[in-house]
Amino acid sequence: MTSVSLRNKNVLITAGPTREYWDPVRYLTNGSTGRMGAALAAEAVRLGARVTLVLGPVGHPPAGSSRLRVIPVVSAWDMYEAVKKNVRKADFFVGTAAVADYRPAIPLKRKIKRHQPSVTLKLYGNPDIIAMAGHLGKNRPRCVIGFALETDRVLENAREKLLRKRLDWIVANRESNLGRSEASGTLLSRWGHQVPLAKMPKEKLAKTIWRTILN
Ligand code: C5P
Repeated sequence: MTSVSLRNKNVLITAGPTREYWDPVRYLTNGSTGRMGAALAAEAVRLGARVTLVLGPVGHPPAGSSRLRVIPVVSAWDMYEAVKKNVRKADFFVGTAAVADYRPAIPLKRKIKRHQPSVTLKLYGNPDIIAMAGHLGKNRPRCVIGFALETDRVLENAREKLLRKRLDWIVANRESNLGRSEASGTLLSRWGHQVPLAKMPKEKLAKTIWRTILN
C-alpha cells in the first residue's frame, strides 16, 4: 500500500476478551485486558480518524469522545453482530480482540448447584469475526489487520492466518504478551513485509504499528 493518512477515515477495532456464559453467573473467558486495542484506537484518533471500538468486558474501558465511540459487548456473538453492523463503512478494521473460540451450546437458565458432582459442557464454535471482515468482497475495508497470539511456530501460524482470513497485515506475537502492559512481535503483510517489533509498552507499539502500516 502506498502512504495513506488516517485523517477522517473510519477505523473499526475489536478489543478485549469475550465472555461466554454457561449459567447465569459462570462463564468462559481469557486474560485479555483490551489494552492493545485501546492503544491502537487512541493513536488512530490522534492521527485524525473516527474510531469505533467494539470492546469486550474489561476493567478499565477507555472513555468515549466525539472521535471515539465505544460499543461494549459481552459475548463473541455480540461482538460479531456489532462488527457486522459497522464494518461496511469502515476503511480500516483491526481485530485485537481475544475472541473466545467456543460458547456453551445450551447456557443453563438457572445457577447450577455445587452438590452436582460433575458438569459436562458441550461447546459450539464461535464465528470468526475478522475472517468475515476479510471476505466481505466489495464491502471489505481497504485494510484489515489481525493479531495472532501463538505458543509455537509463531511466524508460520501467523502467516497461515494472514492468508486464510484474507488479512492485509498481522501482528504475530507470543501468548506471554496477553494481559501484559508491554509486548513484542513481528508485523507481517500479504505483500511479504516482515517487520520485527521490539519489546515496548503497548501504547508505543500502537504508534509503530500504525506508522508501518500507513507508510
Ligand atoms: O485464529 P486466532 O484466534 O488465533 O486469530 C487471531 C485473530 O483473529 C485476531 O485478530 C482475532 O481478533 C481474530 N479473531 C476473530 N474472531 C474469532 C477468533 C479470532 O476476529 N472468532
